[in-house]
Amino acid sequence: MYLGLDLGTSGVKALLIDAGQTVIGSGHASLDVSRLHPGWSEQNPDDWIRACEEAVADLKARHPREFAAVKGIGLSGHMHGATLLDAADKVLRPCILWNDTRSHAEAAVLDADPRFRALTGNIVFPGFTAPKLAWVKNNEPAVFAEVAKVLLPKDFLRLWLTGEHISEMSDSAGTSWLDVGKRRWSADLLAATSLDEKQMPSLVEGTQKAGALRADLASKWGIPAGIPIAGGAGDNAASACGMGTVGASHAFVSLGTSGVLFAANASYLPNPASAVHTFCHALPNTWHQMGVILSATDSLNWLSEITGKSAGELTAELGDTLKAPSGVSFLPYLSGERTPYNDSAIRGAFTGLAHESSRAVLTQAVLEGVAFAFRDSLEALATAGTTLTRVTAIGGGSRSRYWLKAIATALQLPVDIPADGDFGAAFGAARLGLIAATGADPLQICTAPRTDATIEPDAALGGVYAEAYQHYRALYPAIKVTTA
Ligand code: XUL
Repeated sequence: MYLGLDLGTSGVKALLIDAGQTVIGSGHASLDVSRLHPGWSEQNPDDWIRACEEAVADLKARHPREFAAVKGIGLSGHMHGATLLDAADKVLRPCILWNDTRSHAEAAVLDADPRFRALTGNIVFPGFTAPKLAWVKNNEPAVFAEVAKVLLPKDFLRLWLTGEHISEMSDSAGTSWLDVGKRRWSADLLAATSLDEKQMPSLVEGTQKAGALRADLASKWGIPAGIPIAGGAGDNAASACGMGTVGASHAFVSLGTSGVLFAANASYLPNPASAVHTFCHALPNTWHQMGVILSATDSLNWLSEITGKSAGELTAELGDTLKAPSGVSFLPYLSGERTPYNDSAIRGAFTGLAHESSRAVLTQAVLEGVAFAFRDSLEALATAGTTLTRVTAIGGGSRSRYWLKAIATALQLPVDIPADGDFGAAFGAARLGLIAATGADPLQICTAPRTDATIEPDAALGGVYAEAYQHYRALYPAIKVTTA
């Protein structure tokens, strides 16, 4: 048995697979995000440990016998978060998350230093880790002075599980301190933010062993002490391992809190100007590109909160048949946007509202707006040299057939729906745990699930969707002016 632990923004998932990769079951625990000021987004790392304990207890209660046979663990987590520890590994302040944009000024300064784009292959986005440390240095100098280690969120869980400071390439590629082509920390980039390599964890590949389970936790959970923990991956690369998106031309669209259009690449293909992210994959000698939109299901959840209807109730009001865009547009920039604009100041908008604009019309506009944001990412990937021919849908939002039809029609690509199952980040993490524990060939393990159904672009609505996308594109410059 192998355990995958995925630290998501909205909760922790613990998933168990057997040696043949059949999913035995999973456990869950929820997490909240604290938004103290506009643009801020934080979590308390102690809550991750509590949620991890709860998710494991939930899984263990459902499958006690199988859980007792765990032989390897893999980790996945939301990326870019700055978890700051003092010399005694005490957490110095709440973790500043991936969708926190407070460090936009610091990010712009670092991004203007040509070494960052040249070595990391990416724009220094405000959500990445290095500008967060620059913000802490400028605004909380006493905290900065105490920083002995900077860990990414899932690597903080590893510290708790193993007592060791270790990270891996896929997550570390999102810090702005990694030389992404050479897969090693850059002393120059660290120095540019007044840090050095001693403050960073050591690095392995995601498939390698990175620590062993502490004896006290092992005895509490009733599993052997010392079982290996895999390097694991940032949540997007972990999902790719779960989906078998590891070879060139494989791609997925992920409808989670954030939205990601992800393509695997056999080589390092940086193109920072496109605002595409180019990161190391979790497998050795493999990279990937992705367009990232900051509010995907988060946009629908926002509408759900203000209408008092659950996301499922809102999408159910639309039925399953795709409708022509109504003239109401939604721009999903609730916490700024990464691809293609790198704009942390932009905010979302509804346009074209009329007396007759019902709740269902607003829901439709939100789903279309997110679909058009994915189209922006598709265009950005094309600029970066990656042309997609089909994508597989994953993430909570992919339960809405309507949304998938809107995405297929906006992208003009077939969207594959995997056979029923759990192929996300926790599954990918469990696969990495299996690989690290057994030495299995990653390509033999990280295979694609069977496709259950394919959603083709709606032929009748292709034209009106294309027009609505052009309208959507034209709105960004208009609302940028009014928010400047
Ligand atoms: C990727 C990103 C998000 C988080 C969310 O660059 O910021 O997808 O990993 O989980």
